[in-house]
Amino acid sequence: MTTLATVITGASGGIGEALARLFAPEQQALVLVARSKDKLDALAKELNSKHGIKVHVIVQDLQEIGAAANLMNEISNLKLSVDTLVNNAGFGVSAPFAKADAAKTSGMMQLNMVALTELTHMALPAMLERGHGRIMNIASVVAFQPCPYFAVYAASKAYVLSFTEALAEEMRGRGILVTAVCPGSTDTGFHSVANTKGSLVDKMAESPLMVAEEAYKALNNGKTVVVTGLLNKPLPLVNRLVPRKAMTWATSKLMGR
Ligand SMILES: NC(=O)c1ccc[n+]([C@@H]2O[C@H](COP(=O)([O-])OP(=O)(O)OC[C@H]3O[C@@H](n4cnc5c(N)ncnc54)[C@H](OP(=O)(O)O)[C@@H]3O)[C@@H](O)[C@H]2O)c1
Repeated sequence: MTTLATVITGASGGIGEALARLFAPEQQALVLVARSKDKLDALAKELNSKHGIKVHVIVQDLQEIGAAANLMNEISNLKLSVDTLVNNAGFGVSAPFAKADAAKTSGMMQLNMVALTELTHMALPAMLERGHGRIMNIASVVAFQPCPYFAVYAASKAYVLSFTEALAEEMRGRGILVTAVCPGSTDTGFHSVANTKGSLVDKMAESPLMVAEEAYKALNNGKTVVVTGLLNKPLPLVNRLVPRKAMTWATSKLMGR
């Protein structure tokens, strides 16, 4: 017999960890995925003792080709079926594109887009068969506009947003909730990895718990897109009203160094 599970990628810190704490009280088995085994083990232990739920840790580098299939195999070996999928793992690289590290850039595209898409594709058939499921994809406010000096990261999040909105429409009326979450700057390990530590965007950061709470509520309310944080809410409208060229120029001033 298979048990239904909530799978959260990138659960070893930041927004993913905060989301794991919010999903845990639902009493469904949890699968926490990332590369940092120690952090995942510590969180699993805490959530298990607090909520009495089964928490599984799967260490997987989702940048690797075929990682999504490996992860889904491990999940099925544990006799689990994905009922809720949270595609949260992701990172950014802030640099002039011509100088960006090629391998890092490719890895980012693999993680932010390919793994997310493949996991969604592999999780959907069982959800459709049951007529029940939830998919949360973490995009970003940068999904709404081109971002010089963060070009590939912003484009990858534009992909996540577009893909998720389209999928939500395909799933309408089929019992599967699909939400794209667009956080603004958030106080997590993201800025150290992205090389944006100490920048203006880093200083404006929200707490990961606040982002996770809005995201969780939006998913359960069947909202297709949620922009988290009061200050960020007008961004989609601003992007529709202000010419794209002007927004791109303004973003280059914010991101340039
Ligand atoms: N923080 C922000 O300002 C911000 C704003 C908008 C959107 N976001 C998005 O929010 C999501 C979560 O980021 P965060 O802010 O919480 O940053 P974070 O604290 O750096 O967390 C990123 C998570 O992804 C995991 N991860 C990174 N590379 C991975 C890989 N190759 N394979 C598997 N897991 C990997 C990390 O775990 P390991 O290192 O242990 O693998 C970690 O658990 C990302 O998609 C990010 O793009 C962040």
